[in-house]
Amino acid sequence: MKCVRTLAIETSCDETAAAVLEHPRRLLANVVSSQVPLHARYGGVVPEVASRGHQEVLWPVVSAALEQANLSLQEVDLVAVTAGPGLIGALMVGVSFAKGLAFGLGKPMVGVNHLVAHIAANLLSGDFVYPALALVVSGGHTDLVLVCGPTDYRLLGSTLDDAAGEAFDKVARLLGLGYPGGPAIERAAQDGHAHGVSLPMVHTPEPLDFSFSGLKTAVSALVTKAGAPTAADVAAAFQQRVVGLLVEKTKDALQRTQARSLLLAGGVAANRALRAALGELAAVRGLPFQCPPLALCTDNAAMVALAGDLLYHQGLRSGLDLTPRADLSNYRELVG
Ligand code: KG4
Ligand code: ZN
Repeated sequence: MKCVRTLAIETSCDETAAAVLEHPRRLLANVVSSQVPLHARYGGVVPEVASRGHQEVLWPVVSAALEQANLSLQEVDLVAVTAGPGLIGALMVGVSFAKGLAFGLGKPMVGVNHLVAHIAANLLSGDFVYPALALVVSGGHTDLVLVCGPTDYRLLGSTLDDAAGEAFDKVARLLGLGYPGGPAIERAAQDGHAHGVSLPMVHTPEPLDFSFSGLKTAVSALVTKAGAPTAADVAAAFQQRVVGLLVEKTKDALQRTQARSLLLAGGVAANRALRAALGELAAVRGLPFQCPPLALCTDNAAMVALAGDLLYHQGLRSGLDLTPRADLSNYRELVG
């Protein structure tokens, strides 16, 4: 049987991305055009600027991916596209493009949930051992999800306020470290010492939920007072506390669910301290641990291709009525 080749498109936030995957995990192309320079001077993503940026570079990005894969458009068997959650104008650019492509080529299309795609980035290193516990930490989400099968996702807990990545971004701004904040804090933390910087403990009514806004407020109070610790020391303390919280909740979720493997996903999964700490947690419990290669942690289309391929082989198809949804936060949507 011919191996399905998926062309995937991702435009949910500030990366315009296209990828080509040959079933099940041969990545033929992965092109990401970052809009970071467009948004950096605002200290965050400006939705209208993002939509316009996608509009301008989507076709060049898709054709670069086809060229990298050495494929013509006609050789594509499936079109996969992120349909939410994300910025509505940004999503519309990708979804409209994908619809036109699928219709014009007469090929099937699968709309993909961006969060499911983040988890699917891990499929590059092998199939999942179900049930798998996934910690999804991105700029918009912090979720613990039990993945019981390719289309069976159960949300166990999520953030009550800021997402983990958002907290990194806001704290980096308070410390004057620039945007995006995650990599900037990680860099600064290397030269810092966490001890001596006191940050509050964080409690949530539900044990598997998260809360980060108290930490952000504490940092804000710290940096304005006389004799404030250095940005590097605060960065080190903040990173240590966030990683500690994420590990603690993940450990609790593993105990409660008896999951048989552990997955890490989302932009914050690029954080080396977090990768190491979760890897250690899995090792202590004797569980397989998967985390995406660094390049596939932050937004990309390879993860959309992996998710699209997975869902397509589960029999899922989207019609031309596929509508992007900014608030598609439920992992069960668009997966069956
Ligand atoms: O998954 P992603 O690219 O976009 C969303 O779907 O939101 O995640 C972006 C987030 C940003 O908040 C960024 O600061 C964070 O991931 N991030 C990191 C690191 N690299 C990116 N956070 C901590 N450490 C990093 N190395
Ligand atoms: Zn993302």
